[in-house]
Amino acid sequence: MKMTDDIARTHANHADARAGHSHSEHDSASRFMDEAYWDERYGSIDKVWSGNPNPQLVREVSDLRPGTALDAGCGEGGDAIWLAERGWRVTAADFSRVALERGAARALEVGAEVAERITWVHADLTTWIPAPQSFDLASAHFVHVPREQREPLYRRLAASVAPDGTLLIVAHHPSDLQTTVQRPRFAEMFFTGDDLAAELELDPAQWDIVTNAAPGRTTTDPDGRTVTIRDTVLRARRRLL
Ligand SMILES: C[S@@+](CC[C@H](N)C(=O)[O-])C[C@H]1O[C@@H](n2cnc3c(N)ncnc32)[C@H](O)[C@@H]1O
Repeated sequence: MKMTDDIARTHANHADARAGHSHSEHDSASRFMDEAYWDERYGSIDKVWSGNPNPQLVREVSDLRPGTALDAGCGEGGDAIWLAERGWRVTAADFSRVALERGAARALEVGAEVAERITWVHADLTTWIPAPQSFDLASAHFVHVPREQREPLYRRLAASVAPDGTLLIVAHHPSDLQTTVQRPRFAEMFFTGDDLAAELELDPAQWDIVTNAAPGRTTTDPDGRTVTIRDTVLRARRRLL
């Protein structure tokens, strides 16, 4: 298993945020969904996600020629493994060691050739700087961070895309907050493709926006009802200059 550690800083004690002490929405959002929260969430159950690739990844990436890929916020590795099965060499980054170890174990179960194509990186995306212009695909699915961390985080992901490469950002759409599906109740963490495109200021001389959409899909809410939710999908290609 290839694993590197890019977290250089220590984390404060977060217990009070989770215990519900009075904080602003922003403070709660940043402290609630931290590394300890995610390690606890992954550690509380054998498998959090289905293991299947995200549908927007399959839709947006199936037509691309495999090369190098960054899966930022890879979780248990469903997307990274799907990419590696298709020949991509994947850097799979997350700040949850529990998720990374689970992903690496699952990749080995899928096959040595697949596992060999994935490097698992323990990194906090709010500080980690992936190598500029180095990935043919930089992809992030459902990485929701506080508002002021979002723009620099996604700018660094955009900067990591090589010429002729693809940036793919998929997130929960803000309209999900009007549904009965479970979402963190921090409105500032949700964004549309327009929001993100404006924040990233993707220069049209350097970038083509390929997809800016909010496709719907059905899921089940905690009471077992079928609910339509939306994904924010922003896909852009860095032009060959
Ligand atoms: C909703 S899960 C999605 C996981 C995976 N992308 C998927 O779609 O199955 C969000 C993931 O982002 C990770 N994450 C959130 N904030 C992060 C940060 N600042 N640095 C690194 N990983 C982060 C979490 O640990 C979690 O695995």
